[in-house]
Amino acid sequence: MEKNNGQREVFSSKFAVIAAAAGLAIGLGNIWKFPYITGIYGGAAFILVYLICIVLIGLPVMLAEFVIGRRARKNAVASFQELSPNTPWYLTGAFGLVTGYIILSFYGVIAGWTLHYVFLAITNGFKNQSPEQLNNIFTTLITNPWQPVAWQLIFMVLTAGVILGGVKDGIEKYAKILMPLLLIIIIILDIRAITLPGAKEGLEFLFKPDFSKLNATAIMSALGHAFFSLSLGMAAMVTYGSYIGKKENLGITTLQVTLADTVIALLAGLAIFPAVFAFGVEPTSGPGLVFLTLPNVFNKMPAGYFFGILFFVLLAVAALTSSISLLEVVVAYFNENLKMSRKKATLVAASTIALLGSFESLTYSIIKFDLPLFKGGKWHSFALLDWMIEISDLMLPIGGFFIAIFVGFVMKDNDVKDEISNSGEIEVAWYSAFKVFIRWVAPVAIIATFINMIFGLV
Ligand code: TRP
Repeated sequence: MEKNNGQREVFSSKFAVIAAAAGLAIGLGNIWKFPYITGIYGGAAFILVYLICIVLIGLPVMLAEFVIGRRARKNAVASFQELSPNTPWYLTGAFGLVTGYIILSFYGVIAGWTLHYVFLAITNGFKNQSPEQLNNIFTTLITNPWQPVAWQLIFMVLTAGVILGGVKDGIEKYAKILMPLLLIIIIILDIRAITLPGAKEGLEFLFKPDFSKLNATAIMSALGHAFFSLSLGMAAMVTYGSYIGKKENLGITTLQVTLADTVIALLAGLAIFPAVFAFGVEPTSGPGLVFLTLPNVFNKMPAGYFFGILFFVLLAVAALTSSISLLEVVVAYFNENLKMSRKKATLVAASTIALLGSFESLTYSIIKFDLPLFKGGKWHSFALLDWMIEISDLMLPIGGFFIAIFVGFVMKDNDVKDEISNSGEIEVAWYSAFKVFIRWVAPVAIIATFINMIFGLV
């Protein structure tokens, strides 16, 4: 990063802008969460709704977050204070902070599973294991009381270490090479998966929509996941936007980041679903899906040992670049607004998040701790870990709603236009369309999805 007029650091090149935003967006959401919820909600029709959410709501909200961040050049909370002083709008940033906290608590657990799979891949733990045995390996891991907790702690120490060590930029440099490599590995897995005997059923699941499977909960999940995957709704992209230089084209950046994130998710689905059907894994297996499925693929491909290690290492790196940004949102606030030293802020945030995460992890093994949630017109009960995932899917769209209203109605129209057009330097013929989307389409779609979810209408 470079200094910008002696004020805030900005990214040094266009590529750096996109690579960092993509590093923030691409993570477990694309490869772990997208496939498993697609499995639960029935495939192609769900994916279609997800894509509609991305275009109608994700794109405008991402641009809105960039606009707030680059205009104010402050952290998630302070940006709102800067643009709308002495109003409660800063609560939008504060709400995002709480959401980030919750997300990171379960994110660390899943990233911990990923680290365990790196270890299994290195020690050749998948070799000659049948799909049933691979299933058992996963169940044994998550029902073991201490192993997932230990891996989660290792992951959180890594995340905090990167922030404390000030090597964030260094990690991002590596990510610029490693993330394209992840893309290549996924494409290789796609080719292997599609050519498996029995792959056809998986392709149909992905591409042939069956709208009878769609219900209110599925639509809510698609919306929640659109926010999760694009890292929207918690002002993370506000913080990120504050580092974008004044010459960058925010509209184009929004398009590129969204496209990259969506393509990776779809390609991950394309690697997983043919294998789900080829190896008789249940599509509705839930959070374990990627771990149950892909080791079968590695077993059935040349140099599978090597690809297995590479895949899980890269997945862990993708998780790390996201978790660093998640922790950074919290740390920046503790540091700048609560006046803690960065060291103290990092230690306080990371240790409390790790503690919460450990507790969540244990609700899969020795602690029975369920929480209720009302959706689809009735009450459901979830283990704490699943509950946290569900609740973040609700909190992100709520945050996104207020961000949309803020940019649509509270910020001065001239300021918004000035930011998007780089003070008139770039032609933004689509500006009035953006205004309609951020004022009406996105907020109304979010409210409609909630009403539908609560009353179970569709
Ligand atoms: N988008 C990330 C993923 O797909 C997860 C995430 C949600 C995130 N909100 C974030 C990452 C904020 C960084 C900052 O895995």
